Amino acid sequence: MEICCPVCKNKLTLTKRSYRCLNGHNFDLAKEGYLNLNLRNSRNTGDNPEMIKARRDFLEKGYYSFLKDAVDQLLDEDDSLIDLACGEGYYTKDFKCRDKVGIDLSKTGLKIASKNDKSTLYLLSSIFRGPLPDKCADKIITIFAPIAEEEIVRMLKDDGRFILVRPDRRHLIELKEAIYDHPYLNEEKEVLIKGLVREKQIRISRTVNVERPYIEDLFMMTPYVNTTSAKDKQKLKSIEKLDISFCFLIDVFKKPN
Ligand SMILES: C[S@@+](CC[C@H](N)C(=O)[O-])C[C@H]1O[C@@H](n2cnc3c(N)ncnc32)[C@H](O)[C@@H]1O
Repeated sequence: MEICCPVCKNKLTLTKRSYRCLNGHNFDLAKEGYLNLNLRNSRNTGDNPEMIKARRDFLEKGYYSFLKDAVDQLLDEDDSLIDLACGEGYYTKDFKCRDKVGIDLSKTGLKIASKNDKSTLYLLSSIFRGPLPDKCADKIITIFAPIAEEEIVRMLKDDGRFILVRPDRRHLIELKEAIYDHPYLNEEKEVLIKGLVREKQIRISRTVNVERPYIEDLFMMTPYVNTTSAKDKQKLKSIEKLDISFCFLIDVFKKPN
């Protein structure tokens, strides 16, 4: 896939270990292999090393591999793919597409991703300013991350597909029952994206016995980590193992005919 200069939007060309545009804007590949195209000193620096470590330890145990397989089935080898907010590339690295770009704002995430996966070009950038041309991707994926609506519609080919993965109502319900006095189901809103229509929705789930310390790693990956009291968090430490439901919604969107 062609990469655009974040300053002037012209095409970036690779020479040795640098990407350069015709206006002379130059971006060096990091030693791990990712490309830093983030111009702004934004406050959002993506997930921090502690969050990345917890997610990595949990995911590498394979608990979510059935989700990865389900998404991979929606892809073709010949697809050009953008994984928006790819984190440390757990999913990206195994997707079958030959032409893959992963975008995230977390340096820690992209260091791991680009060290482990030479089949993908990882870009440090906001997903809300994708450094890629219009209509460049057959598939765009967002897994448990903010939806960059305008950029998705801009970068998606006319016959492309946007695949969104999010938790469904019952996702992690047993974990919530174990720590909260009043556990609640997740809200399941319909996602509406201007310029796209939903083609299909797939629900997948699996109940898995999770052991310590992966229960705490899993908790660290969730938004509950910011909203749960210290007292409730403490309860996690006494759980040795727990059957937990992993329930996901996969929405596939396309451009209207
Ligand atoms: C919950 S994680 C999901 C990561 C990955 N998709 C996965 O499921 O393993 C959300 C990711 O979004 C990234 N992120 C959040 N806001 C972002 C933004 N504006 N631009 C790029 N990445 C962003 C974070 O750094 C983090 O890696």
